[in-house]
Amino acid sequence: MKKIAVLVGSQRKKSYSKALANNLVSLAPESLRLEIVPIDQLPFFNQDWESDLPTPKEVEEFRQAIGEADGFIFVTPEYNRSVPALIKNAVDVASRPPGQNKWGGKPGLIISNSPGSISGFGAYQILRQSVGMLGVRLMSFPELFIGGVDKLFDDEGKISNESTREFLADSLKKFENWVNKHVK
Ligand SMILES: Cc1cc2nc3c(=O)[nH]c(=O)nc-3n(C[C@H](O)[C@H](O)[C@H](O)COP(=O)(O)O)c2cc1C
Repeated sequence: MKKIAVLVGSQRKKSYSKALANNLVSLAPESLRLEIVPIDQLPFFNQDWESDLPTPKEVEEFRQAIGEADGFIFVTPEYNRSVPALIKNAVDVASRPPGQNKWGGKPGLIISNSPGSISGFGAYQILRQSVGMLGVRLMSFPELFIGGVDKLFDDEGKISNESTREFLADSLKKFENWVNKHVK
């Protein structure tokens, strides 16, 4: 059983990204245990934590959770053709202090989404650039851009469209193979 930390780039109560992440948890193959790791309690990264300020408890706990994960799934909306600060902050927080980057060498998957048809493509690319540089082994095929996300869910928050459910379940199977290649 591999532990996969799921990071969601929105703290909005009715966030589509959150709904998508919740659906992934139930669509994942048995050998992947997906756990949504909250990032909305994290303070903004402060490099003074590496010198004269104490590191907040939430930061220590988050770094530990990322360190213990076997892999990552990032579910992000797009803000102004980039990633929301929330998810970029989480990436920065667990990349430090120097020499203690918690992301490196582990498998990852990015899923961007938007009500619009460009599907968060800008956010996807920018997140790819950051976490790729940190050494996350990103699965690059299939690319997961979910457009029209506002029309995807039923009243219980479940994906109502069978073909999207199948696409996500199949992508998670491929991610399972990818994880098994990178984690022994
Ligand atoms: C500050 C801000 C900037 C946004 N910029 C974009 C954008 O560049 N591209 C896009 O497709 N949607 C953009 N949107 C719309 C979001 O896709 C939409 O609000 C979405 O529901 C946010 O994700 P969530 O449902 O997970 O909270 C923006 C929304 C906000 C609040």
